[in-house]
Amino acid sequence: MPQLRRPPVPAVVFFFFIIWLFIPGDDLPAQAIILSDVASQRIKSYHDALDILNQTRWGDFAPGRDAEHAATIGDGFLNLTGFRGEKDGFAWEDLERFRERGSELSHYAVPPVDGQQLWDVAAGEAMWTNVSGIVQGDWVRKPGSVVKRYDEYNLTDSVPGLDWMGDKADWARNITGNSGSILLRVDGNKTIEVYEQLAVDEAPLGGGLIRNVKGTATIEDTTGSGHTWEMRLWGVHWPRQGVILMTTTSEKFEGIFGLPHLTPSADYFQSSQRLLNSTLAGVIARKEENVLIDQTMPWNSDMDNPLYSAYPSPHCEFIVYAQVHPPLPQNHETTPIESERVIHAIESELEHPLGAPIEKIPRLRMSTVIYSPDCGFFLESKGPPDFPPGQAQHLVGLRNEVHVHHIKTWLLMYALVVSGQVFLLKDQMKETFTPSTMGRVSFWTISVMVVVDGMTFLAAATWVSSAASTFLPTLALMFAAFLSMTIGGSFLGKIHEVQLPESRNRQAADRTTSNSGNTTSTPSEGATPGAGASLLPGPVTATPAPSRVNLPQGQTGAAPVVADGASAVPNLARAEPEEAPTQTPRQAFQDIIVRYIFTGLCLSALAISSTTWYPVLRSIFLNLCAFCYLALWVPQIYRNVIRNCRKALRWRFVVGQSILRLLPIAYFWIYKGNFLFATTDLRAFAALSAWLWLQICVLAAQDMVGPRFGVPVGWAPEAWDYHPVLREDNLEGGGLPIGLVVDDHPGLDRTHEGHDDQQKRRSPARVIDCSICREILEVPVVNAGDETTSVANAFARRMYMVTPCRHIFHTECLEGWMKFRLQCPICREELPPL
Ligand SMILES: *[C@@H]1O[C@H](CO)[C@@H](O)[C@H](O)[C@H]1NC(C)=O
Ligand SMILES: *[C@@H]1O[C@H](CO)[C@@H](O)[C@H](O)[C@H]1NC(C)=O
Ligand SMILES: *[C@@H]1O[C@H](CO)[C@@H](O)[C@H](O)[C@H]1NC(C)=O
Ligand SMILES: *[C@@H]1O[C@H](CO)[C@@H](O)[C@H](O)[C@H]1NC(C)=O
Ligand SMILES: *[C@@H]1O[C@H](CO)[C@@H](O)[C@H](O)[C@H]1NC(C)=O
Ligand SMILES: *[C@@H]1O[C@H](CO)[C@@H](O)[C@H](O)[C@H]1NC(C)=O
Ligand SMILES: *[C@@H]1O[C@H](CO)[C@@H](O)[C@H](O)[C@H]1NC(C)=O
Ligand SMILES: [Zn+2]
Ligand SMILES: [Zn+2]
Repeated sequence: MPQLRRPPVPAVVFFFFIIWLFIPGDDLPAQAIILSDVASQRIKSYHDALDILNQTRWGDFAPGRDAEHAATIGDGFLNLTGFRGEKDGFAWEDLERFRERGSELSHYAVPPVDGQQLWDVAAGEAMWTNVSGIVQGDWVRKPGSVVKRYDEYNLTDSVPGLDWMGDKADWARNITGNSGSILLRVDGNKTIEVYEQLAVDEAPLGGGLIRNVKGTATIEDTTGSGHTWEMRLWGVHWPRQGVILMTTTSEKFEGIFGLPHLTPSADYFQSSQRLLNSTLAGVIARKEENVLIDQTMPWNSDMDNPLYSAYPSPHCEFIVYAQVHPPLPQNHETTPIESERVIHAIESELEHPLGAPIEKIPRLRMSTVIYSPDCGFFLESKGPPDFPPGQAQHLVGLRNEVHVHHIKTWLLMYALVVSGQVFLLKDQMKETFTPSTMGRVSFWTISVMVVVDGMTFLAAATWVSSAASTFLPTLALMFAAFLSMTIGGSFLGKIHEVQLPESRNRQAADRTTSNSGNTTSTPSEGATPGAGASLLPGPVTATPAPSRVNLPQGQTGAAPVVADGASAVPNLARAEPEEAPTQTPRQAFQDIIVRYIFTGLCLSALAISSTTWYPVLRSIFLNLCAFCYLALWVPQIYRNVIRNCRKALRWRFVVGQSILRLLPIAYFWIYKGNFLFATTDLRAFAALSAWLWLQICVLAAQDMVGPRFGVPVGWAPEAWDYHPVLREDNLEGGGLPIGLVVDDHPGLDRTHEGHDDQQKRRSPARVIDCSICREILEVPVVNAGDETTSVANAFARRMYMVTPCRHIFHTECLEGWMKFRLQCPICREELPPL
């Protein structure tokens, strides 16, 4: 146990650091003025960009147009940051390739019927109307035709008025690996706008429906930079065609304003231009109204710095073209109208569950191509036709409603698991309620459980305010975790109270031995104020000798003990003035709890920040956390060894807690479809379960063959061995228990009358009455000179217990007795705890 009286200095420092972080400084007003300057400047440039969006036509943006045409109809660039040709220097040469690749994906997802590309005329397969959901898959990187390096850009020149930070080094979001995984989350607007399509000869057509969407892409670049990049995207969705086009927007790329020019055709251009013209104007108007209150930049792609800033840092920009796959497998019998009806039934059931009989809800699938015009590369989702379908399936995921349902189920299951833990804990506490039994339980084992349950509670309590549709399951989890935390905490408090004298004794003992040693001859047990009240006499180190010294005090009843304790206090104060007797166990326990809360907070903060770490580092960290968490029986094993105690906790508790605490880990480590889309790690999970299993085996071995089985003598402090080998040759040394010593007792050999001599010589069992249950107790006594280490012997020894005062009982009887009282039932001498 750590030192109890030291104030938790790191915790205090951490606390003030947090406060300092959140208290606004004096320079805030000045900063706000500068910020609002920056903000109004940006809003002004948004207005200009909106005008450009309003005024341009299809074909105005055509990078790579030859000089002849450029002279007559313009140079093919737009006056939008990022779209300005020479001045920005983006690699727009690949725009045509991006469009072609997108159209290939679409034609693959909606294959031609009878040689006719129905997708082009918006008559292909029926699609999801609502694509809000999460999909995940792998990407492969393809270099663009031009390699762009950061030193080819002069951002101070192309985007003046800002102090660029870090533009002379590799930009953020620069994907350099060859492949990795991507998580794409799409959120669609509820309202769908209807527009009038162009004539069929202007194909491909957009399908007459459009809505705006926003998305979040998380791209893991494990093989390249090792980073995980997260970005926000804004764009539009044509539900009839299943096409989604989104871009990032930043100080150096007004992507959302130029988005219509990146679409596949004039029809797409016209529809998206109209939609964006009106929605963007609305957003800008709202921003203008509360520019001083709301400092977040609209359409910002940078998740870490969403505010207006005069010091931006450059990121690679992305344009995402995604084709949603038809939810129903292609089938020549069903007409598009019929499948549309089926999909409609599924969608309305998803949105308003009425229990209508619907088929299995199809998964959401998309294929995507991502183009970075400034860093010059492509990312494509991995899947057919370039890769065999068995290897990769593009991006696969769940509709939001299904995902939420999944989370709800998980939360409820977790709440059930935590309730199971509470049940087991109650069950254990019912058994462990006497000081003697509580003395056996490891404080640290229960601590680990309480800290983890506390963190669960903290997480649930934080989440519950923003839980929306998962509110009720989160509340259930919060409640269960609260119960588990408080009940575990109260158990911990009691254990602490019982075990506190132990650590004090140890400190006192250390001190008296390190002092000259003759300062006081009072045994350490008597010196502690709390010891008189506590039934627990002894430190682990209690050898029979000191407890015999203690014997008169124990025998003379309560009053003398109190007197002794009272006289001991000044004695103690004189001998050790720095040992403040003022701190009650309660205060000490509160200190510990405060420390646990900070540990929990720090761990949570680390875990949250680990989402941005290198994936390898993160998985090592998480595995390490799980490993430490699942090491929860190690302190108990240690305590069993130290106290020479065979078993402190019920088997039901040990096995049940192990399984219940492994279950949530198993979900994320094994189950591929987990709602966090975390990568599974079967090998790590096998190692974790093996680790837990090993601890349970050691606990079982301690129960069966003794707690110090395999521990070298001298490693653990000496403790009274309740199951000694009874040797014949010890008879004269007074080592045998009272009642077995008298060899010629008339009743002693009564059961052996019929036995043959040989057996009697090999294992002469003696018989005695157990004075607790008054039944016969058969004790094997080893012959002089015999080997004593046989396993059978070890089990036979488990049947009886010998006290330091040399009384002998049935193991069951004395263990039952010692739950309540640590005194010999016969002579009332104190017994060392089990
Ligand atoms: C752009 O918007 C203005 C009004 O804000 C409108 O008068 C004008 O016709 C629009 N231009 C185009 C090309 O639609
Ligand atoms: C481009 O737009 C800016 C304002 O955003 C304007 O100052 C500039 O004159 C425009 N350039 C051209 C060539 O139209
Ligand atoms: C992207 O990474 C490549 C390879 O490390 C590097 O050559 C290039 O300069 C980087 N591009 C940017 C814009 O940082
Ligand atoms: C970038 O442009 C600014 C302004 O035009 C100029 O002063 C600076 O020298 C340029 N830097 C480089 C590296 O070309
Ligand atoms: C949703 O679409 C409507 C109409 O198109 C628009 O007014 C509204 O601002 C959009 N909402 C969001 C959050 O984009
Ligand atoms: C689409 O899904 C979202 C989230 O699941 C839901 O809020 C919205 O009402 C749905 N919209 C339509 C048109 O189905
Ligand atoms: C853009 O919106 C303005 C009004 O906000 C409107 O006058 C103009 O015609 C719109 N332009 C296009 C191309 O829809
Ligand atoms: Zn008995
Ligand atoms: Zn006794």
